[in-house]
Amino acid sequence: MFKLIEIFNISKRFKNCEALKEVSFNVSNGEIVGLLGENGAGKSTLLRIISTMLNPTSGSAKINGYDLIKDSKLVRKNVGILFGSEVGLYERLTARENLEYFAKLNNMNKEEAKNRIDELIKEFSFEDYADKQVGKLSKGMKQKVAIARSIVHNPSVILFDEPDSGLDFKAANIVFKFMTKCKKENKSIIFSSHSMENIKIYSDRMVVLHKGEIVKQFDVKEYRQKYTDKEINDMLFNLVCGGDIDD
Ligand SMILES: Nc1ncnc2c1ncn2[C@@H]1O[C@H](COP(=O)(O)OP(=O)(O)OP(=O)(O)O)[C@@H](O)[C@H]1O
Ligand SMILES: [Mg+2]
Repeated sequence: MFKLIEIFNISKRFKNCEALKEVSFNVSNGEIVGLLGENGAGKSTLLRIISTMLNPTSGSAKINGYDLIKDSKLVRKNVGILFGSEVGLYERLTARENLEYFAKLNNMNKEEAKNRIDELIKEFSFEDYADKQVGKLSKGMKQKVAIARSIVHNPSVILFDEPDSGLDFKAANIVFKFMTKCKKENKSIIFSSHSMENIKIYSDRMVVLHKGEIVKQFDVKEYRQKYTDKEINDMLFNLVCGGDIDD
């Protein structure tokens, strides 16, 4: 199967911390990978690097065949990134104006942008507040707008850092349904979450990070057939905290 995301030995060192240590894995088209790890495990750093927002200290990656460093412009075109904790929207603009602005930044023409934005507003059910100033929206409302903003240019690779953060049950469901639809369109998705349940339900493969290292990756369906829910939860809890497992 074609690999839309190929990550080779990525390491990232900040001044006094090794945030990622030789991380390697691939994501095929039509695959959803869930990233699990405690606070500080390196999830956001990894997603930042794959989206070209941050350079790795060493290692490389290819997105849709484009090299992260040499073809960074093309990589950016192919990637949509969302950061759960920082919505990155202009508070004085309305939700729709924010989407229009990001569509323009991505060189979409007016008509193409209008159609796509109308479609996204409907998809994420924010017709009621599409024309309200973002600064006046609730946290969850902003999160939905931020998600729509991150994929306004219809990228083939989707990186969602904690997309379920701050969302109520219904809104989280809309977001995960959207991810499942993208999977059917053969896109590649990596998302992080602190909800083991959401990762177990919505990912095909789980990658567990601990202190910047991959401590486990496995096929979720296979594990769900092989182990009980409690066994998987116990194993994940142990892994996230730096323990080992036998399987
Ligand atoms: N800009 C930075 N400068 C220095 N250190 C950083 C920087 N960004 C991240 N780090 C460090 O890198 C490590 C990994 O951080 P990262 O944000 O990737 O973790 P995370 O898994 O996303 O955690 P969380 O679940 O809290 O979001 C942490 O030790 C953090 O302090
Ligand atoms: Mg993070």
